[in-house]
Amino acid sequence: MKAVILAGGRGTRLFPITVAVNKHLLPVYNKPMIYYPLSILMLMGLRDIIIVLNGEDLPAFKKLLGNGEHLGIRLKYVVQEAPLGLAHALKSTASLLEGQSVCLVLGDNIFFGHGLPALLKKARREVEEGGGAAIFVYQVHDPERYGVAEFDEKGRVLRLEEKPRRPSSNWAVVGLYFYDSQVWDFLRLLKPSPRGEYEITGINQIYLEKGLLKAYRLGRGFTWFDAGTPESFLEASEFVAVYEKRSGKMLACPEEIALANGWISSEEILSRCNMFGDGLYSQYLKRLIEEHTR
Ligand code: TTP
Repeated sequence: MKAVILAGGRGTRLFPITVAVNKHLLPVYNKPMIYYPLSILMLMGLRDIIIVLNGEDLPAFKKLLGNGEHLGIRLKYVVQEAPLGLAHALKSTASLLEGQSVCLVLGDNIFFGHGLPALLKKARREVEEGGGAAIFVYQVHDPERYGVAEFDEKGRVLRLEEKPRRPSSNWAVVGLYFYDSQVWDFLRLLKPSPRGEYEITGINQIYLEKGLLKAYRLGRGFTWFDAGTPESFLEASEFVAVYEKRSGKMLACPEEIALANGWISSEEILSRCNMFGDGLYSQYLKRLIEEHTR
């Protein structure tokens, strides 16, 4: 399965911070925001990744991540002509992915939790082998900001609503989805919503109506941030800082995941350290190499 990270959009909720800088390049504590969704994909074992972005941001992303070779992954970039919604952004990758199943992740979403890679791998396998779509839901105090899922008494999804004024539950649909190859046909059926965007909720709704949607509940053992508002952006940084200081481990260090997956060697990491100088990130990578070669 190939994967898509959405890193376009306008980032209006973070204006004026994002007037001149792409949101996904902003630091969440000690690393660019895009490292977090990228790491989640790598933890799932996905190596073919397409980043969707605005044309003007292409040079900066290429400077940061290149073709992904240094991380043992294959990165491609697709320009979305205009920020017309998440489904529109996914559709812009059709020329590369049509006919295939796909994992879609939003570039400003941060996930953390014990057992998360295993759960995601399971969902991925089910979609690859059995078809359909998989979404993940998480309980939040402000569901009106998100797509919201309503469940029946047997735990099946009854309804999906996009940013409802009066949410029927507090289960928000998080920004990570698996779709089988039918998604490309469904994307063609989609019409713009009243706010003028091609909504990913519309795609999930089609799968729901066909009885092909599975929703996984992320319980209390998981943390999820959408770092798209000043408050959630700050909270995400605070969370990462506290976790890393307490544990001595980094959250979402792509080089570490690539090394653990056997995709790159210690020598390759060392050449990254030389590039990064002697900052804390480099020191962490050097420690990893020592542990790895011990
Ligand atoms: P949103 O947070 O819904 O939109 P946004 O990033 O433009 O921010 P704002 O609402 O503050 O204006 O987007 C979710 C993710 O999807 C985010 O990581 C950006 C990305 N995205 C695209 O890649 N293309 C798009 O057309 C849109 C709307 C978002």
